[in-house]
Amino acid sequence: MKKLGIILLAIALLAGCRKENTDPAKKEMDKFVSEMMSKMTIQEKIGQLNLVTPGGGILTGSVVSTDVEAKIKNGQVGGIFGVYGPEKTLQAQKLAVEESRLGIPMLFGSDVIHGYKTTFPLPIGLSCSWDMELIKETARVAAREATADGIFWNFSPMADIARDPRWGRIAEGAGEDPYLGSMVAQAMVKGYQQDDLSRNNTMMSTVKHMALYGASEAGRDYNTVDMSHLRMFNDYLPPYKAAVDAGAGCVMSSFNDVDGVPASGNRWLLTDLLRTRWGFDGFVVSDYTSVNEMIAHGMGDLQQVSALALKAGLDMDMVGEGFLTTLEKSLNEGKINQEDIDLACRRVLEAKYKLGLFEDPYRYFDASRPEKDILIDEHRSLARETAARSMVLLKNENQLLPLKKSGTIALVGPLADSRNNMLGTWAPTGDHNLAVTVLEGFKNVAGNTANIQYAKGANICDDPEMAKKVNVFGPKIEIDKRSPEAMLKEALAVAGKADVIVAVVGEASEMTGESATRSDISLPMSQKKLVRELAKTGKPLVIVNMSGRPMTIGEEVNHADALLQMWHAGVEAGNALADVLFGDYNPSGKLTATFPQNVGQIPIYYSIRNTGRPQEGSNFEKFKSNYLDVTNSPLFPFGYGLSYTSFQYANISTDKNEMAQDGTIHVSVEVTNTGNFDGEEVVQLYIRDMVASVTPPLRLLKGFKKIFLKKGETTTVEFAITANDLAFYHPDLSFYAEPGDFTVFVGGDSNASLSKVFTLK
Ligand code: BGC
Repeated sequence: MKKLGIILLAIALLAGCRKENTDPAKKEMDKFVSEMMSKMTIQEKIGQLNLVTPGGGILTGSVVSTDVEAKIKNGQVGGIFGVYGPEKTLQAQKLAVEESRLGIPMLFGSDVIHGYKTTFPLPIGLSCSWDMELIKETARVAAREATADGIFWNFSPMADIARDPRWGRIAEGAGEDPYLGSMVAQAMVKGYQQDDLSRNNTMMSTVKHMALYGASEAGRDYNTVDMSHLRMFNDYLPPYKAAVDAGAGCVMSSFNDVDGVPASGNRWLLTDLLRTRWGFDGFVVSDYTSVNEMIAHGMGDLQQVSALALKAGLDMDMVGEGFLTTLEKSLNEGKINQEDIDLACRRVLEAKYKLGLFEDPYRYFDASRPEKDILIDEHRSLARETAARSMVLLKNENQLLPLKKSGTIALVGPLADSRNNMLGTWAPTGDHNLAVTVLEGFKNVAGNTANIQYAKGANICDDPEMAKKVNVFGPKIEIDKRSPEAMLKEALAVAGKADVIVAVVGEASEMTGESATRSDISLPMSQKKLVRELAKTGKPLVIVNMSGRPMTIGEEVNHADALLQMWHAGVEAGNALADVLFGDYNPSGKLTATFPQNVGQIPIYYSIRNTGRPQEGSNFEKFKSNYLDVTNSPLFPFGYGLSYTSFQYANISTDKNEMAQDGTIHVSVEVTNTGNFDGEEVVQLYIRDMVASVTPPLRLLKGFKKIFLKKGETTTVEFAITANDLAFYHPDLSFYAEPGDFTVFVGGDSNASLSKVFTLK
């Protein structure tokens, strides 16, 4: 058996080599890079592994690069980030190309997380559109704008699965589910790279943060991660792998540890898994000073951790300069080999080659492009459309929404006219001055016929200490000069004269994002009080929750007649919200992360296992898996979201009852638009493995289709299931489906109840 394995491995290796040797483009690249490397000194090779930031963008650590100009000229910089605009980037590139000995061009990177200048909704919001073409299109537009401004290497997508909304960075990802997360990661990579890195309007994508960063204990940023390999492979790794499979040119290592070794020095993660198992052939960049941070993790001094990182398979050191300052010494002391440095250097040079930089190092610095490519009308309308599609309607009693464009509307709340908070976290290249506020959006969409009265009503929060922490990148929580009582009084006066109240509440943009963990994810007390008082007026109340994370808003849901989850929706946020509330767009978003009832339920997600003592029904039972003080169910489940119309599901069927391992089974269901509006629905398919050798989740998303139905219309939606959809990772990390019965559920959210059983032979 062992012998057979060795023979198979040898055949595989030979096949791999043959492939390499026969690919003429790869051969040419190898030759070019080898020739270049033959001219390089060891210092110049190490220089290629150094990524600097002169401090133009958002700083996410305490360290900034110094003497950048001198280092570039000395051949000590491989890439740079935080420099924007064709003039500045050209100037910097010239230092490398014209003033360093070998003239090797630099990579220019940035965090283009949800749009460049045309800011789209937060990634968590984008994912709620469940529209992969749309997401891909936003990434294409982001690449067009960024490359017009001299940036061609993007630190996105963030593929971290997150099941803990206390973690502020849940805003930057696609939520809790590996299947959906994989599709989104893939769409973003394809959007940025367009399968052609050599074009001057596409950018190299970096999948981050490898790996498991979203599982930081207690949601506290940068915290320890420790999980079984089964959970890793089945639940957390698929989106990174999907991004790698989609061709992402770069991978960023994460801050946290994985199996007790920090990701940036984890050879199992960065080499055995990423390269050997997944076949990744791009380069790995560290996160911001994450190599140095291994000192604090307890892995040794700077020289030790830098050597550890290089040997683990990390190629480029972001900002920390551990590589720059210690690798030569480690080489001289025999702690690393020449080959370790050569391999990393080769990978960085290959990335530059693939981007076409050796052909023309200035190809991305065309001063005429920004005007033609950035913030053009077409991009702004895409931002408006995307924002509308990212919003999720969570409640709509008595069809209060859509609002009429008439009568008097009280628009109240600290986020109703707050330009600084519209873009959302991680929009360093956006400009909040360009953002449309909710008040402006209301006036644009309904101002001619409706009387819109605004009052702030409350501060985002009244605590100056909290405001100070949140306002690190500029004022986001602005505490009014007026007393809370005076603001409330004004709001109640406005509300008193109105036919309907729209309260726009939630989080300031920097209450989520990096280093923005909250242990209490409810509305700040100032806003809770406002909502309570507004509810007491007895007027119809619409609550709009603007946030970067699922929040515990049960009280507000009870107060509201209608509630819309808006997220931070980007540069066109105000217009898009008005489009939705006034019915110009019928909402179709569905949650991609569960909303808990309270923080005690966290981590909370739909794909739970049954346990040996599952609760039957929803009442507390002694000696069952439940809580004394809250039910097990979430406030809103994964996949949930309403429309102004309603959809009915019927007649689920499969084309056969049994399926072979290499077969396909087709599931179909009839969906009818039974309401009074045309609308879109995300038809979701979940599968439960009834008996397996590893405790199976109660259901897993395995397919979805977004459809449009005119009112009264019925359609049949079909899904094809193969054994791959039924497969999972086993304790030995083999991936296959086990024969037996499976239940398939189809419906409009993760509680879908229409079901059918089939058997895998
Ligand atoms: C973040 C990364 C980001 C990097 C560069 C870090 O703090 O974790 O997501 O790409 O900074 O800005």
